[in-house]
Amino acid sequence: MKKTPFIIGNWKMNLTLMEGVDFAQSLRKTLHDKKEIICGICPPSVFLKDICEALEDSGICVAAQNIHSEKNGAYTGEVSALMVKEIGCTHVLIGHSERRHIFHETDSFINAKIKVALSVNLKPIFCIGETLHEREDGRTNYVIDNQLKEGLRGINTDHIKDIVIAYEPVWAIGTGKTALPEQANEVHSFIRSFLSDGYGKDIANDLYIQYGGSVKAENTKELMAQPEIDGLLVGGASIRLESFLKIIEAASKQECF
Ligand code: 13P
Repeated sequence: MKKTPFIIGNWKMNLTLMEGVDFAQSLRKTLHDKKEIICGICPPSVFLKDICEALEDSGICVAAQNIHSEKNGAYTGEVSALMVKEIGCTHVLIGHSERRHIFHETDSFINAKIKVALSVNLKPIFCIGETLHEREDGRTNYVIDNQLKEGLRGINTDHIKDIVIAYEPVWAIGTGKTALPEQANEVHSFIRSFLSDGYGKDIANDLYIQYGGSVKAENTKELMAQPEIDGLLVGGASIRLESFLKIIEAASKQECF
């Protein structure tokens, strides 16, 4: 049976504080009493406190876009897992391709961030995905396998339950090129079998695997109809309330729930 869809909007470095709070308040009003969807947003770190306050007790998750791998210390400009947890965040993005490629984050750094997030009960949304070059070389599964192996190194059965996996093919992020629903489903199946091998079939089936990369209202239904796609991580189309709501609406209209 399909899970309740989990749709998250990653605002990246967009919006003003006022726009963000307005967005959160309107989202709260619109989603009030909607039980058929789990929803969340990832605002820039300086907006997190205000957005958490605007969404308090709404059931809408707030995720930080980033944390540091250390608990605390001399890391000027960085934000810790405990800091974002303290102000009300439930989740944090870890391993996003923009962090891997623009900020040169390594698999071991990502693994350390996952561990520090889990240590304060912050749920990691662990992003993985191949580049176009890697796909064209036929190395998609190899890359995904490696990112999973390294990112989840040392994560035990109790902790894996708190992790959401987001498959975001790098070539589909912000390019308008969505992976074909079947193409995405194939990689999701591969991820699911990796998790099943490591943690058992039941746990693997319970874990959320989201798809991200040029998601919009027009392709939501088709993506969510795929058996292995449990939710979406939306970038560009999540910074306008109207388009984000259209995606949420399209995702929640699946017959299976
Ligand atoms: P786009 O939806 O803009 O392609 O971004 C996807 C993404 O990176 C979400 O984290």
